[in-house]
Amino acid sequence: MSIAIYPGSFDPVTCGHLDIIRRSSKMFDTVIVAVLNNSAKKPLFSLTERVALIEKCTADIPNCKAMCFDGLLVDFAEQQGATAIIKGLRTISDFEYEYQMAQLNKNLNSNIETLFMVTNANYSYISSSVVKEIASLGGDFTSLVPDEIYENVRQKIEKGR
Ligand code: PNS
Repeated sequence: MSIAIYPGSFDPVTCGHLDIIRRSSKMFDTVIVAVLNNSAKKPLFSLTERVALIEKCTADIPNCKAMCFDGLLVDFAEQQGATAIIKGLRTISDFEYEYQMAQLNKNLNSNIETLFMVTNANYSYISSSVVKEIASLGGDFTSLVPDEIYENVRQKIEKGR
């Protein structure tokens, strides 16, 4: 049984993330979307909210599940029986950063492979940070996040104002 981990902060999950989740769920028996519990960052959505938002927009993908994790990614991957970590690549700068992470993770656990998936060109400019910035400045972000979670993001931003 092939299990892959797709890790990130997902604050919030975007259309770009969802595209990678859909594509990888066709390649693996199970895809675990792993939300990092990072106490150093001050996220817009809590950990449980981020997991719930992912569950909401992946409800039609039966072999996908969302979980949170802390500690080392490779340790979480091993605990889950995963053999691969999926990373989406949008730009050369993504590659430079992710290449280093892949080498470090390989050094930490040589049984876990990092696989890079090229982001769909339509989504290559999307990040959770730009979603939050556009939403908080009153811009149209309908095409940036999955329809299922648009209202959640809008209301959260509204509350924070
Ligand atoms: O969406 P992000 O914030 O770019 O995701 C970063 C993430 C979660 C993939 C990365 O921070 C991570 O893997 N953190 C877990 C801690 C860890 O294993 N660090 C060593 C990696 S070299």
